[in-house]
Amino acid sequence: MPQPSRLVVLVSGAGTNLQALIDASADPAYGAEIVAVGADRSDIEGLARAVRAGIPTFVVKVKDFDERADWDAALTDQVAGYAPDAVVLAGFMKLVGSAFLDRFEGRVLNTHPALCPSFPGTSGPAEALAYGVKVTGATLFVVDAGIDTGPIIAQTTVPVADDDDVESLHERIKVAERNMLVESVGRMAREGISVQNRRVRFGS
Ligand code: GAR
Repeated sequence: MPQPSRLVVLVSGAGTNLQALIDASADPAYGAEIVAVGADRSDIEGLARAVRAGIPTFVVKVKDFDERADWDAALTDQVAGYAPDAVVLAGFMKLVGSAFLDRFEGRVLNTHPALCPSFPGTSGPAEALAYGVKVTGATLFVVDAGIDTGPIIAQTTVPVADDDDVESLHERIKVAERNMLVESVGRMAREGISVQNRRVRFGS
């Protein structure tokens, strides 16, 4: 069997998407292993999940640096130390900067709880609900310099219910999102991806 793809996963909160990847990668046939989990804050469940799974963790906080670019450079160095094949932003609520993207170009993935290009940013479920859409979902994409603008690897849809609030809608999205993330990251690890004119295909 070929060596599994080395993943570094970055989180900012509950880490349920991270947990789905931890669970999937327990099977060697999955094709990917999580070599480290990083965060922009401490004392979060996402880090605790990594510790319980025996995965190394690190924290790089924006407030510990005078300049945002210095934070970005420090984060880049930490991640690079684990020699990842891909970096998965799984509920990481910070924009990575140009040093990070230059270093890991085309290998940084992000999952967003809306159907891109709709509702980019940190409030996807709330904005979808406020707009009154009947269908929303989640998007896995290759990160570029924009906010949730990169080439789309996969999308999954969920209906909006009449009695949804932001929390119930986001929870329904996250169930679909975790399945999409696990399936797509596994395929990417086993088959690779190619990107041409924004169009992403599995297989190299
Ligand atoms: C996920 O729904 C993810 O898409 C979202 O945060 C949630 C994290 O959940 N990310 C963003 O909104 C980024 N713009 P988790 O911590 O339970 O995996």
